[in-house]
Amino acid sequence: MREHDNDDLSFDDYDELRDPRPDNNEFDAVVDAAISRRGFLGGVLAFGSGAAAMGTTFLASEAQAVTANRFGFTPIPTSTANTITLPEGYEWETVVRWGQPLWSGVEDVDQATGGTAETQAMSFGDNTDGMAVFAKGDKQILAVNNEYIQNKVLLKNREDGKATNADDIQKMKNAHGISILEIEEGANGWAPVLDSEYNRRITIDTPMELTGPLAGHDMVKTDADPEGKTVLGTWNNCGNGETPWGTYLTCEENFNGYFGSADENQELPAEFKRYGIKTKSRYGFEKFDTRFDLSKNINEPNRHGFIVEIDATDPTSTPKKRSALGRFKHENAEVVLASDGRVVVYMGDDERGEFLYKFVSEDMYVEGGDTDGLLSEGQLYVAKFNDDLTGEWLALTPEVTGMSKEEICLHTRVAGSKVGATTMDRPEWVAVNPLRVEAYCALTNNKNRGIKTNAGGDETPVGGPNPREANKYGQIVRWRPTGGEHTDDAFTWDLYVMAGNPKVHPTGPLAGSDNVNEGNMFNSPDGMVFDSKGLLWIQTDGNFKNEGDFEGQGNNQMLIGDPATGEIVRFMTGPNNCEVTGLCFSLDRRTAFVGIQHPAADFPDGPGTLPRSCVVAVKRTDGGLVG
Ligand code: FEO
Ligand code: CA
Ligand code: CA
Ligand code: CA
Repeated sequence: MREHDNDDLSFDDYDELRDPRPDNNEFDAVVDAAISRRGFLGGVLAFGSGAAAMGTTFLASEAQAVTANRFGFTPIPTSTANTITLPEGYEWETVVRWGQPLWSGVEDVDQATGGTAETQAMSFGDNTDGMAVFAKGDKQILAVNNEYIQNKVLLKNREDGKATNADDIQKMKNAHGISILEIEEGANGWAPVLDSEYNRRITIDTPMELTGPLAGHDMVKTDADPEGKTVLGTWNNCGNGETPWGTYLTCEENFNGYFGSADENQELPAEFKRYGIKTKSRYGFEKFDTRFDLSKNINEPNRHGFIVEIDATDPTSTPKKRSALGRFKHENAEVVLASDGRVVVYMGDDERGEFLYKFVSEDMYVEGGDTDGLLSEGQLYVAKFNDDLTGEWLALTPEVTGMSKEEICLHTRVAGSKVGATTMDRPEWVAVNPLRVEAYCALTNNKNRGIKTNAGGDETPVGGPNPREANKYGQIVRWRPTGGEHTDDAFTWDLYVMAGNPKVHPTGPLAGSDNVNEGNMFNSPDGMVFDSKGLLWIQTDGNFKNEGDFEGQGNNQMLIGDPATGEIVRFMTGPNNCEVTGLCFSLDRRTAFVGIQHPAADFPDGPGTLPRSCVVAVKRTDGGLVG
């Protein structure tokens, strides 16, 4: 595919395109995979298909105990309309969209040019993703990730959507990062509070502190930062997390694609290959900012790919990059407290064949106590799943990896490979059930499963929680710690759902598990958040062409699952082209805030308007609780 055709791709697809894996032609591996596939799915199919049979340990007893559904609405069909559709009794409105000013005196985005670097710095960023609401007195502060950009829309001032000068690059940088804004519900619905003292834009140039084992390490020192402790910016912020002490966690995902080199033949360190860092970048920042030019700043990539902690209620606070939580393509960071007060953080690495991680803090969280060190010192683990529905968290220590503590934090993927972690079907969001000690991870899809290795050369055999070759539809795995604490090393697991298309594939593994039918089918689960009732909200980022293997599945959507029964119903469908991603609730739980990323033209503002990634408010028309 020509370079020019790449602009409409998601960042994940772009990354895959520029860094394809070699075909795995090893005969033995192919045979092993096939046998494993027959063994695993064969057993499942004998009972029906998928999760219901595999999960008999968890599901059967609970299904008997729970009879009535807890959803309280009539599920909706799929849609191919360029709008949001909700069940009867629900309504939506746009809260804030890309290019909307957060301060007075700034104009709304110019539809002909996509605005300027200056207007963008004072406005909501592009490609909304993970988000959270924080309370400050009686005020509600919304922190939202702006993952990447729609350059053909943002750079309407350039014919082909390509940056031609430093000002274009500055506009692109200013559209990334995090938007923090006070929001308020008035007579016309939810809207940003202009000029609020809490409004803040964090971008690719915002100073942050590097903390944890890597702070001050030689591998993170640059000419501009000889101490290796002050890093500029965060980007490709995908999912999010929240801490019990009220801070926001933003997760750096495809950070690699922003680096390039003036010397396209430059030899790069071996570890760069594992992370997909190459001499060619997606947006060309390196042509105008030497920080992104590998021929001038070889250590700069080592300063990105982290979880960043931000106090969204203090606009003067310095964001902190938490190197102790590892460096990879972070999806989200799901935080839960063990009963002894230790902080557990579950994290997916979203790339084909990469791993699922867990961090356990060294110290205990004490309400009102000092929390600054909790995400700076602790133990990182990687997941190994066995075919017999058991699994274990393998500690990434110098003893078992042969790497120093600092190297483990920097080349975390390499450490995971050394201990034999399970290669997964692209781990996206992890969500912890508030009503029982269990966690869920969306494994969105993986066209390379059973076909190609991951970037480190690890095999991706078919089996365990990744049971389908060239996985098109995705699945959700869940695990329960054997001792009842998220700090436990051992767990049991099952698949909560295997997505599929029973309309196109009435039987067999592509039909999906028993809790998938023609009425609720979907592909590519991605965002996941539990509400206070213990219902699992599932957002999709998949194929929306509504044809072939995806016929009848329509636009990307949001579903709600009841973990106690396995039932899944469709709650919302998004507009054309979009991915539905990012979810949080107002403090009174009467509004669900939902992110609509990269919609088609005319959404949300009507015919003839630019497509604008946005946050929408979903409410009941009777003012009842939604989450
Ligand atoms: Fe930004 Fe893996 O999604
Ligand atoms: Ca995406
Ligand atoms: Ca995602
Ligand atoms: Ca995704």
